[in-house]
Amino acid sequence: MSIFTLVDHPLIKRDVTVLRDENSTPEIFRNAVRRISNILAVELSRTFHLTEKQVKTPLEVTTGYELKQEVVLVPVLRAGLGMVSGFIDIIPDAKVGHIGIQRDEKTLQPIEYYFKTPKTINESRVILLDPMLATGGSALGAISYLKKRGTKEIIFACLVAAPEGISKIEQYAPDTKIFGAAIDRQLNDKGYILPGLGDAGDRTFGTL
Ligand code: PRP
Ligand code: URA
Repeated sequence: MSIFTLVDHPLIKRDVTVLRDENSTPEIFRNAVRRISNILAVELSRTFHLTEKQVKTPLEVTTGYELKQEVVLVPVLRAGLGMVSGFIDIIPDAKVGHIGIQRDEKTLQPIEYYFKTPKTINESRVILLDPMLATGGSALGAISYLKKRGTKEIIFACLVAAPEGISKIEQYAPDTKIFGAAIDRQLNDKGYILPGLGDAGDRTFGTL
């Protein structure tokens, strides 16, 4: 069984098309990332456990629910930041850690430059956010950091994944669950996903 779940939804298909379109401005791009992130958050949280709690309505006390485990969102800088608001819409009490990793443009190797995560991350449900899973080097770097901090269960949410990246995570971190909005064909010789959407960080922040 693959570790990758393709979240197949008509609204995601429409918005991935908006992301791919080279004419989409940063504003249009960011809004589409947020909407897709909303749907990914709903889908990947289906199996989250609940505990019962009593709640008093204006009329009587009844049984309600709260999430059993604290959720920590961890965007990979920079592009992962664009997914945070869409996840916070759906999981408003989530904490947010940050991991700074940038690919070296020539070697495609990940360069790590920043880490800040909550102390409780070892007992939390962690959702790693990065729109692009290309060679998988950045994702694997982030997963290794989280594992060193004692994280047991990692869900990786992405927008576009290349088969090469999925295979790398399957090989080196097979206990990771990946949820994505699209699987694309392949990487080009510069490590860009085809057909892809270009550089997600640049398109999010208008730094093209
Ligand atoms: C992009 C993307 C991923 C990484 C994917 O970030 O957001 O983090 O590339 O590529 P990989 O799977 O081959 O490692 P980038 O390094 O461009 O940094 P940025 O978000 O700051 O632009
Ligand atoms: N990072 C991106 O932003 N886009 C790609 O296609 C590959 C890596």
